[in-house]
Amino acid sequence: MNCITVNNLNFSYPGNVKVFHSLNLSIGNGDRAGITGANGAGKSTLFLLLMGLLEPRSGSISLWGKKIVSAKEFREARLKTGFLFQDPDDQLFLPTVEEDIAFALLNRGVSRANAVIKVDRLCKTFHIEHLKKRVPFHLSWGQKRLVSLAGALVTEPELLLLDEPTAGVDDEVIDIILDYLKDFRGTMLISSHDKTFLDSLCTSRHRLLNNRLEEC
Ligand SMILES: Nc1ncnc2c1ncn2[C@@H]1O[C@H](COP(=O)(O)OP(=O)(O)OP(=O)(O)O)[C@@H](O)[C@H]1O
Ligand SMILES: [Mg+2]
Repeated sequence: MNCITVNNLNFSYPGNVKVFHSLNLSIGNGDRAGITGANGAGKSTLFLLLMGLLEPRSGSISLWGKKIVSAKEFREARLKTGFLFQDPDDQLFLPTVEEDIAFALLNRGVSRANAVIKVDRLCKTFHIEHLKKRVPFHLSWGQKRLVSLAGALVTEPELLLLDEPTAGVDDEVIDIILDYLKDFRGTMLISSHDKTFLDSLCTSRHRLLNNRLEEC
């Protein structure tokens, strides 16, 4: 079964900024797909459409074999999805790092005690235990990236949509992210300009060019 199916998707931003014309994408369950494309090609826009945070002009998005149209259907799909915004400042909003990482767990009804265990485990994996009591807004760019990534992964989602997870982080951190994602058993769609990173992780690569996606 496919995890993600996009059919004939058309999307423009207001002001007639055309981003997608008849875009098609097919990602199987358990696939690890990379997306590349020049600045402005539409990688982030595609993620926002898949999350239901933007509305296509026409075409369809199906997740786990079911066409997703209404806000309620997107909300339900988001519960099974870990999404990393390209800009961590769009993601982090709570007063401390540990609350921010725990947010999605608590939102899904996980008890505070269990949330603390999961947050601590992930902070240890990502070497960010020392940041737990810090204010996310005050962190460095790379630290923010790791904290927002931890927030996207902490629920152990079935689908990961990661928009440039390695942008602005150092080599040691890239290795930590890579090790973690290599053990991830769900489906992944990852945008990146880092082709080495995608090559070490992904089973397929797609390129956004001229408003469409091509497998490469
Ligand atoms: N809110 C917006 N309003 C109008 N145009 C937008 C908006 N957001 C993005 N765009 C435009 O849509 C196009 C696709 O942008 P998008 O951010 O999806 O590209 P990207 O592939 O993620 O680029 P990058 O590699 O720089 O992150 C660009 O031409 C961009 O200028
Ligand atoms: Mg982008």
